[in-house]
Amino acid sequence: MGEAWQYIGELIEVKRADPGDDLVSELIGVHDDQDGRLSTHELHVWCTVLLMAGHETTAAQIGSGAVLLMQHPDQLALLRSEPERISDAVEELLRFQVAGHSLSMLRYVTEDIEVGGVTIPAGSGVVPVLESANLDESVFPDPLRLDITRDARDQIAFSSGPHYCLGAALARLELRTAFAALIEPVSRPAARGRRQRAQAPRQPLRTRLRRSSRHLVTTGGEMRDGYYLRAT
Ligand code: HEM
Repeated sequence: MGEAWQYIGELIEVKRADPGDDLVSELIGVHDDQDGRLSTHELHVWCTVLLMAGHETTAAQIGSGAVLLMQHPDQLALLRSEPERISDAVEELLRFQVAGHSLSMLRYVTEDIEVGGVTIPAGSGVVPVLESANLDESVFPDPLRLDITRDARDQIAFSSGPHYCLGAALARLELRTAFAALIEPVSRPAARGRRQRAQAPRQPLRTRLRRSSRHLVTTGGEMRDGYYLRAT
């Protein structure tokens, strides 16, 4: 986190000297030109939030979704044969499992409210568990079944209300793009290429992993040390 904080400080200086058509430059403009609207600390915090909330979340969700598809080969096969289902699949993968844990933040209860027969008194702090709502069987029948054909548009992985995820549209676009690329069929190497590779000296594991990550969602490999390795 310390490194990220320092990196953002440097980025702000670089963008201040050479502004671009981007959000960080816009925020610097608000700080520099609209005195007091965004303090120096707020500017730094918001750029850091955008990096963390905007990168970590989506990157983790791509990994989580890829693993889920590998664990459900029928759904992976369906998506491969009907790639036009990609948007529905992204919603269902978000409903089924958000990478990490519930991202909802602490809420302050301003008036007594009843939830599920329990009164939560005004003044309490609550952390809504979004995963629980996404597994509500009255909204999503058979919720523990991953089914990319279901209508999962009412999932609330991005929360709801005034703090609805600012980057939901971007995240959806990134997830669709990533999964569309990941499900592309892996082309079978020509026999000649196979022979050449068999004769070539063995590459270090790290290089092989990096190369195989291009075809992350595939079958026939195995999980080892937390990595999915393709059978070669
Ligand atoms: C799969 C990806 C993502 C997930 C699951 C996710 C989830 C969430 C959730 C649940 C909240 C609401 C927290 C609450 O209710 O208190 C939230 C807020 C937020 N998200 Fe995301 N997010 C994702 C991607 C992104 C991206 C790509 C960006 C920015 C580029 C982003 C920026 C934000 C910001 C700034 C907030 C705070 C909004 C506010 O409090 O008004 N998120 N996100």
